[in-house]
Amino acid sequence: MSNIKILAIESSCDETAAAVIANGREIRSNIINSQIDLHTKYGGVVPELASRKHIENINPVVREALSQAGETFDSIDAVAVTYGPGLVGALLVGVSAAKAIAFAKNKPLIGVNHIEGHVCASLLEHPDLEPPFLCLIVSGGHTNLAVMEDYGKFRILGSTRDDAAGEAFDKVARAIGLGYPGGPKIEAAAKSGDPEAIHFPRGKVDEAPFDFTFSGMKSAVLNYLNQEKMAGREVNTADVAAGFQQAVTDVLTGRAIEAAKQLGEDRIVMAGGVAANGFLRESLERECGRAGIKLYVPSKLLCTDNAAMIGAAAYYHYIRGERADLTLNAVPGLGL
Ligand code: KG4
Ligand code: ZN
Repeated sequence: MSNIKILAIESSCDETAAAVIANGREIRSNIINSQIDLHTKYGGVVPELASRKHIENINPVVREALSQAGETFDSIDAVAVTYGPGLVGALLVGVSAAKAIAFAKNKPLIGVNHIEGHVCASLLEHPDLEPPFLCLIVSGGHTNLAVMEDYGKFRILGSTRDDAAGEAFDKVARAIGLGYPGGPKIEAAAKSGDPEAIHFPRGKVDEAPFDFTFSGMKSAVLNYLNQEKMAGREVNTADVAAGFQQAVTDVLTGRAIEAAKQLGEDRIVMAGGVAANGFLRESLERECGRAGIKLYVPSKLLCTDNAAMIGAAAYYHYIRGERADLTLNAVPGLGL
């Protein structure tokens, strides 16, 4: 099988995206229409608005992805789409579009798990990267340490017991008045703060060394804000952002390195929106260097939601002959 071109569609949250990927590794086009401006004034993603915006955006985004790649509905080999996890109404727009294309043009249809897609983003920039490898998945909805044993096959080592890492960024950003989307705003504010000024707890789950818990850290930030307010002191937002970012980074870095050491893995693939955080990237890179581990992190644009990663993941299902049929439905709570 050579020169397989997959049209991939992603609409699980607040990005309408389409891409054409050749042979699972080459990006021919990667169109992302972000709805950030739409949701900013509400302080977070409003599911109803997201679905409506996806409906408006999906056809132009798909058309643009095909045209930039110099392809047509007839020339592609398959259509792939994220079918979960995510917001049900948002997922349904992409799933319906992909099914319509597959049906009208008689093309194979491939359903892709969004989280698997995030991990596969690294395949696009590292042609030699092959499983098995350890992954640290840090997105808005998920936080996992896992081994990708083969394409599409994961062994979960640990997960979050409460908030996902990105969710914690978003909640803390809201509490200190930085708004949505929280991650990039905290990163920017933290640049002028002192990460040592305020110490927030690094939560651990005693009986499960690779699980995560961020709710205690988040509550500690809220308590700190409250206590300062009661005392009539002005809060230094930059210090809070820096202290929180340091705490999350210590937890993620420490646990990933510990897992790699215990499992004897010498490669870590970091994936998901939080992997776009420059402070976390530098810290993990430094610690991996010390431990003799090679770190793979996608460029920032491929960390947050996009369809290129969905096309990369889809290719390995395609070559194994795995197909979805026209009963494919959105599965909002889909696991890895
Ligand atoms: O992977 P993603 O785009 O969507 C999900 O699958 O959830 O991740 C979005 C999450 C949001 O919580 C956002 O605040 C966080 O990733 N994020 C960041 C940064 N950029 C995005 N968190 C920390 N630092 C960033 N620079
Ligand atoms: Zn995502």
